[in-house]
Amino acid sequence: MEQVLDFVAGVLERATFEAAYQYLSFAVAGALLLSAGWLWGQALRIMSYFRRLGAARAAVARVRTASGWKEGEGMWRAEPVIQPARYDEFPLQAMKVLNLANLKGGVGKTTLAANIGAALALERGKRVLLLDLDFQGTLTRMCLTQNEWLPSEDGDSPASWLVGGHMDGAQLREFTTPVNVGVGVGGRRSRFKVLPAYYDLATTENRVLVEWLTGDRRKDPRYTLAEILYSPAVQREFDVVIIDSPPRLSSGGVQALCAASHLLIPTILDRASTESVSTFVGQVSKLKTSGICPHIDMIGVVGTMSGAATSAEDDEREFLKDALHSKGIHLLSKEMEMPRRAAFPYALPRGIAFWAMGEAQSVQEPKNAIRALARYVDERMFNAGGQVQRLAPDGRPNERMLRRRRGRPRVA
Ligand SMILES: Nc1ncnc2c1ncn2[C@@H]1O[C@H](COP(=O)(O)OP(=O)(O)OP(=O)(O)O)[C@@H](O)[C@H]1O
Ligand SMILES: [Mg+2]
Repeated sequence: MEQVLDFVAGVLERATFEAAYQYLSFAVAGALLLSAGWLWGQALRIMSYFRRLGAARAAVARVRTASGWKEGEGMWRAEPVIQPARYDEFPLQAMKVLNLANLKGGVGKTTLAANIGAALALERGKRVLLLDLDFQGTLTRMCLTQNEWLPSEDGDSPASWLVGGHMDGAQLREFTTPVNVGVGVGGRRSRFKVLPAYYDLATTENRVLVEWLTGDRRKDPRYTLAEILYSPAVQREFDVVIIDSPPRLSSGGVQALCAASHLLIPTILDRASTESVSTFVGQVSKLKTSGICPHIDMIGVVGTMSGAATSAEDDEREFLKDALHSKGIHLLSKEMEMPRRAAFPYALPRGIAFWAMGEAQSVQEPKNAIRALARYVDERMFNAGGQVQRLAPDGRPNERMLRRRRGRPRVA
């Protein structure tokens, strides 16, 4: 009996030892497999990081010319270009997007954006959204009084959310604020709104760029704004979106060009400013012909702060006409130029000059200039070529027009 018990104990001991040995082997093999998988994942990440870094470097690389080196095409023309679905239909939508832009600073972009918006909303019955894409927030401060334009301490400005792509069309409507247009026209407030910007927008623009160049951003950031603006929620809410661009081709500036259906370029009539108009038109044309912002219709260059009784301004008008000849854009007539008036800089605490300057005889000239420009913009955007009805009865873009448009060359 004792022998039998010893035998059973021996068997059990061996079996336990073998099972333990087996378990241990499985555990070691599993750990090795997991480590190999983790290492493979890290290797893939490192390879893809270097691939993205190479693409980023290529996007900003200098190029060799016959006489040396020069800057390349710049990052905004970098491939691949990933446009939103149905991007070619965007310009056929009923809502229009007007971009006021110029790389020259202080030429009256913001002042014009606010005043054209006011004339379109208050006198031409349009539902207008003013989009402030300049972190200086000047447009925001023209439209909103007191501190209602300041972002909360623990949040960013709506423009930052927009350019960063952290909102959709429905949320954009919630972030807009009715413009303070003053007593007497209060009933129209709901038709005239602004989306505020603040200094945090500068950081967002840099982040968007870095994330794109290092490949951490899945979508092409050039079309973030276009995708949001052409969503059904925004389309239903507004007739016109007016974008006040910064005097730089920052992430926001490029998003504005890619979202815009129309471009208006304000300029002071002095040589430093008029010369820079051609440079800017050349840059936009390159972006347009290379298919980055193929839809943009350059509807005019308009003089601002004019009225100096010297022939120098006439010389600049002639200079501009020559420089713009055959560039697909022209200088708008004198009646649309914004004359220099103290009412524009000093209207700020009281809102937008168009209504703040009142109705006195002395302000009729600048008011009529704003009206003439707003009428021109309105007609170019909504009645161009007499093709007002661009949508089929079901609200979708008219297929016949789409085919015609697709058949057209991209350059105007
Ligand atoms: N028609 C005008 N008459 C007098 N002053 C004007 C007129 N238009 C604009 N200004 C003033 O000129 C300055 C620059 O105008 P504004 O801010 O509109 O230019 P901007 O091109 O938007 O500048 P930035 O490039 O810095 O954004 C402001 O002080 C503004 O009040
Ligand atoms: Mg400005």
